[in-house]
Amino acid sequence: MHLNRMNGAMRRAAWIASLAAMVLVEVAGAAQPGDGRSEGNIPQLRKQGTAMQLVVDGNPFLIIGGELHNSSSSSLEYMKPIWQRMLDLHFNTVLAGVSWELVEPEEGRFDFSLVDGLIQDARRSGLRLVFLWFGSWKNGMSSYIPVWVKKDYTRFPRVRLQERGTVEVLSTLAEANWRADAKAFAALMRHIREVDGDSRTVIMVQVENEVGVLRDSRDRSGAANAAFVGPVPKALLDYLPKNRDALVPEIRKRWETAGFKASGAWAEVFGGGPETDEIFMAWQYARYVDNVAAAGKAQYGIPMYVNTWLSGQGKPGEWPSGGPLPHVMDMWLAGAPHIDMLSPDIYAADFERWCQRYTQRSNPLFIPEMNRDGAGPQDVFLAFGQYSAIGTSPFAVDSMENPKDSKLARSYAVLEQIAPLILQYQGTGRMTGFLLNKEHPTVTRDLGDYQLEISLDDIFGYRADQGYGLIAAVGPNEFAGAGSGFRVSFRPKTPGAPLAAVGTVDEGIYREGKWIPGRRLNGDENDQGQRWRFDSQRLSIERCTVYRYE
Ligand code: DGJ
Repeated sequence: MHLNRMNGAMRRAAWIASLAAMVLVEVAGAAQPGDGRSEGNIPQLRKQGTAMQLVVDGNPFLIIGGELHNSSSSSLEYMKPIWQRMLDLHFNTVLAGVSWELVEPEEGRFDFSLVDGLIQDARRSGLRLVFLWFGSWKNGMSSYIPVWVKKDYTRFPRVRLQERGTVEVLSTLAEANWRADAKAFAALMRHIREVDGDSRTVIMVQVENEVGVLRDSRDRSGAANAAFVGPVPKALLDYLPKNRDALVPEIRKRWETAGFKASGAWAEVFGGGPETDEIFMAWQYARYVDNVAAAGKAQYGIPMYVNTWLSGQGKPGEWPSGGPLPHVMDMWLAGAPHIDMLSPDIYAADFERWCQRYTQRSNPLFIPEMNRDGAGPQDVFLAFGQYSAIGTSPFAVDSMENPKDSKLARSYAVLEQIAPLILQYQGTGRMTGFLLNKEHPTVTRDLGDYQLEISLDDIFGYRADQGYGLIAAVGPNEFAGAGSGFRVSFRPKTPGAPLAAVGTVDEGIYREGKWIPGRRLNGDENDQGQRWRFDSQRLSIERCTVYRYE
């Protein structure tokens, strides 16, 4: 049997054992949603220090994942060879689309055969699933709605745009739309609970996909126009003053500039222009998506998130207007309480900036889409080490050539080993992650009793182009790290001898959380004892001890 497959199977065996132990103490009988009995065991979020972690089967869980192409999971046959590829990439979780059109091909007739097959095949491979509910919207459009919804444009109203008139996109401003979506989503979640509530293969669900109005800053249908000139809803007007000092700067500024009004139409409370159109749409999408999520959670309350097409230069409508972007985050926080996380799809170059913006307001970071190559396999270390990510998931992972030899597989093989360490230190202030390049060659971080200067590696006159990694203070004078292309020097922060030096450096591996040292790194490998080095030719896991002197 392939080693990776064995890892998956071993993980599964451990999980079955823990489940068996749980069954002994659980009251017999299937848990019902909302009866409280299932709450302790179903996937959920739990705070650790400043971090929010995903808890699966009672233990913190790091999603080392990847997202499939949109159509892959619509055929179990097509998926057959893909599961092994996911294991070759060291994934523990696969993000797979489940579409409304296939789940409810005729109104009221549900077909979950595909869902069942995906769950069984993932389970067989020792993989977890995050289902992506392609419901009312996918990339701002409504291509995944069933044909019976597509055809019935009077019952299910569409968006109207300034220059194009009506478009084939469901409007948020129609109760019939969200009710139909919520009914299907609730049926799906109920089914998942029935077939998977005991096994917990499905650990989270994404509700819709990259929502928002494209090619205009807002919906201009009759209902939308009426709502726009009508009063801002009371729930939002109550939220604003309660959160006055915590609002994201963009929302606070617009509300402040308009005079901190306690009532009025949208343009009165937030000023005029496309920015307010976007705020308005964000509220409408948030309320709609929340109705859908609430119906699903009432059946099976596992964590749910929404993903985001990120904004660029330009104006709303060039990106989906109303999606959960950081500059309208408060609309989503106020309008969608059943959504646990607002999640960025980060294909943009400024990865760290998006991580910062998506951790505002204590939003837990989960990255459902990002680059599978280029900088992506390096960025994941920053996400986990510095921004307490719950998980990362590069997109289009099923079409990678030579997945086993990819940079992503190398990064994920390391993350798979150090996941227990990451989970132990997230949110404690004792771990840091970083990206270094020629423009930003050095960062300084306080960790444990030391200040660490982390710089691009430099040896025999050769300077690395890039460095990346994460470091945790695992003991009073001991650090564990993983990454490539950087070096670390230490300065004591606490009273005592004022100087610090590297005592020992070992490279090694973690097997099931246990450290197994390999080479003792000295000489050139630790800059003749001067620094803790991570060679840019390798991606390594190392531990280092430090001592003080004067
Ligand atoms: C973002 C979407 O969320 C994905 O489903 C997919 O369409 C990608 N874009 C394509 O790059």
